[in-house]
Amino acid sequence: MSSTLVIGCMWGDEAKAKIVDYLGGNAHFVVRFQGGNNAGHTIVTGGKKYVFHSIPSGILYPKTTCLIGSGVVIDPIAFLEEVKALEASGLNLEKRILIDKRAGLVLPLHKSLDEDNELRLKGSKIGTTKRGIGPAYSDLTARVGLRIMDLAYPEYLKQRLEELYAYHKIQISATLLKQQLLALEQAYEVLAPYITDVESLLNLGCNKDTNILFEGAQGALLDLNYGSYPYVTSSRVMTDAVGTGTGFSTRKIDNVVGVYKAYCTRVGEGPFPTELFDATGDRIRTTGHEFGSTTGRPRRIGWFDAVAASYSARINDLDSMALTCLDVLSGIEELEICTAYEYMGEKTDLFLSHPMELEQVKPVYQTFTGWDEDISSCLSKNKLPKAAQHYLDAIAELVKVPISIVSVGKDRSQTFCIES
Ligand code: IMP
Repeated sequence: MSSTLVIGCMWGDEAKAKIVDYLGGNAHFVVRFQGGNNAGHTIVTGGKKYVFHSIPSGILYPKTTCLIGSGVVIDPIAFLEEVKALEASGLNLEKRILIDKRAGLVLPLHKSLDEDNELRLKGSKIGTTKRGIGPAYSDLTARVGLRIMDLAYPEYLKQRLEELYAYHKIQISATLLKQQLLALEQAYEVLAPYITDVESLLNLGCNKDTNILFEGAQGALLDLNYGSYPYVTSSRVMTDAVGTGTGFSTRKIDNVVGVYKAYCTRVGEGPFPTELFDATGDRIRTTGHEFGSTTGRPRRIGWFDAVAASYSARINDLDSMALTCLDVLSGIEELEICTAYEYMGEKTDLFLSHPMELEQVKPVYQTFTGWDEDISSCLSKNKLPKAAQHYLDAIAELVKVPISIVSVGKDRSQTFCIES
C-alpha cells in the first residue's frame, strides 16, 4: 500500500486540487478528511474547468473512488446539488463517492448562525465563507450535532433536531421543523447509497497495491489550533488531521507533500505580515485570477513568507513541497521573500501566534531579481530562466524542505517534477 498526503501549507487556495489531480492518476482512493463545502478546489484540464467543494478532486479519474472521511462536515442539500451539477457536466459519479457515516451534518440552522455571528462580531469579524462550517463543528464538539448516520433514523433525527434548536435557544415552528425534516428525509433517499464506513474500508479493505491520496482542504495557517487564531477555520488542517478525520492512522502516511504558492494569498480577515497594498499586489491578483472560488471575494496578496512557510513545514512534517503559480510572477522586476520578522525591535524567525503580535511584525525581506520570460511552457527546472531557478532554490533553502513539484500554469499539463 502507498499513501500520500497533499496538504495546503498557508492560508488556503494554494492550488492543492491541481497537485492532487497531478498525483492522482494512479490513486485507488482520493480522500477528504476535514473541512466542508467552504473549500473551492479548481482543476483545469483539456481547456475545461471544474470546481469542487465537498467532492474530492480525484473524481476526474474514472477508476478512482472518492472518500469523504468522518472529519468532514456535509451539507446534504449542497452536496447533492454539487453531484447533480457535475453529472450534468458529463462526469459519471455512480458508486464513485462514499461518505463516512460519522461525518457531521451542516444544517440550515448552522448557515444562519454563521451569518449572524459575522454580523455580530465587529472588531474581530472572521470573514467566513458563511457555509455554516464553524457552527456545525462547534455543535459536534458540544455533542449536540447531527451526523450522516442519524438520517437513517427519522424519530431520532427529529428528537436531535428539536434538541439542537433548544440548545441554541431558538424557537422553530412545527411547520418549519417538519419542512426541514422532510428535506433531510428526501436527501437521505438519494444519499443512502453513498454512506459507508471509511475507517474499515481504508484499514481493512486495502492491499499492498492500493494507492491512497489524502486531499487537504484550506491551509495549515487556518488550522483551528496552530493557525492564526481566531482568524481560522473550525477544522484541524494539519497532517495529524488525517488520522482523526478518516480513522487511517497518520503513522501510516508514506509521503507528505505541502503545497505553497510562489507568493502568498489570504481571503477573509486576520493578520497577513507580507500583504501588498500596491500596484504589484494588484498585478498579481489580476494575473493570478486571485478571486475566491467559493465566494468570489478578491484574495489579499503578499510576498512569499518563509517564516510562516517553514513553521507550516515543521508542524506538518513535510517530505517535500509543491510550488504553484510560479508563472504568475513573470514580468515583475524584483521579488521579495520574507526571511524573518521584526517584532518590538527584535528579529525573530518564529511565526508569532497572538493576532496582536502578528499584526505588528515587520517583515524583513531579501530581494531577488525577477524574470521577464513567459514560463508557462517550461516543463523542467533547467528550462526555467536562471532567476526563476534561483528563486526556487532560495525558497527550498529558507523553508528547509526540497521542492518536488512545480506548477507553471492552470492546466494539468503545466506541471513538472524535480527529482531529488
Ligand atoms: P469558514 O471556514 O467558512 O468558517 O471561514 C473561516 C476562515 O477560513 C475565513 O477567513 C475564510 O475565508 C477561510 N477559508 C475557509 N475555507 C477556505 C478555503 O477553502 N480557502 C481559503 N480560505 C478559506
